[in-house]
Amino acid sequence: MARIAHLSDIHFGGENEAAVAAARSWLAANKPDLTIISGDLTSFGRPSEFARAAHWIGGLDGPWLITPGNHDTPYLGLWERLVSPFSRFERAIGPASGEVWANAEMMVTAVNTARGMQFRWNWSKGAIAPGQTDWTLNILHGRPSGSLGVVVCHHPLAEMVGGPMTARVRGGEAAACRLCEGGADMVLTGHIHAPFAMALPYGDGRTYAVGAGTLSVRERGVPAGFNLIETDQNTIAVTAQAWTGSNFEVWRTWTLPRRA
Ligand SMILES: [Fe+2]
Ligand SMILES: [Fe+2]
Repeated sequence: MARIAHLSDIHFGGENEAAVAAARSWLAANKPDLTIISGDLTSFGRPSEFARAAHWIGGLDGPWLITPGNHDTPYLGLWERLVSPFSRFERAIGPASGEVWANAEMMVTAVNTARGMQFRWNWSKGAIAPGQTDWTLNILHGRPSGSLGVVVCHHPLAEMVGGPMTARVRGGEAAACRLCEGGADMVLTGHIHAPFAMALPYGDGRTYAVGAGTLSVRERGVPAGFNLIETDQNTIAVTAQAWTGSNFEVWRTWTLPRRA
């Protein structure tokens, strides 16, 4: 059985301070196998925000895997956005792409869908290159049979139906299709600040897009929170935890059948 805490969009600098402190206590008490943060660690990519993020992450007991989001590039600083958009992230946190974590139950890969600049007006939207999907599938194909294959990126590759905002990932639908056909079990994302779980409409229908909400004050119609993901041989159970102002409570659950 695998247990993953999936957090996202903490947006240090604009975080919900009480919820973020309580989340660390929750993690210490519940001891997931792995804590994942799927991007937007900061609000404006400021060094001071990364320092706060690094301090909070340094207090986590167990292993973690973090991928950047669009807010983790320098908001002010066009030259830096062009030549080294993730250098602040990498100095404070770790590699911005290519992270892999595995135990006997699962293999988790991180893909960076954020970009410093793009040839379109809205640079906050995502992109995934075919080579990033090649790399991901190559890693996941090396996992033992029965091991859960997990992909982490910031932007949902396919839009959440009825979601509070879009990700409009360039190459997202093609990547989602290939990940389904390649046997990935879950694609974990953030960005829209609302939790969800749904089967991607490709392959055998057993690859799930799962989004975590936000722990920032930038709520979009859903309380601040994060997801707990628990698996056994047959099922993936996703529980969205919501911050009530004093503690976390179960907000919604999804029970998803695993690929045989
Ligand atoms: Fe965000
Ligand atoms: Fe984002």
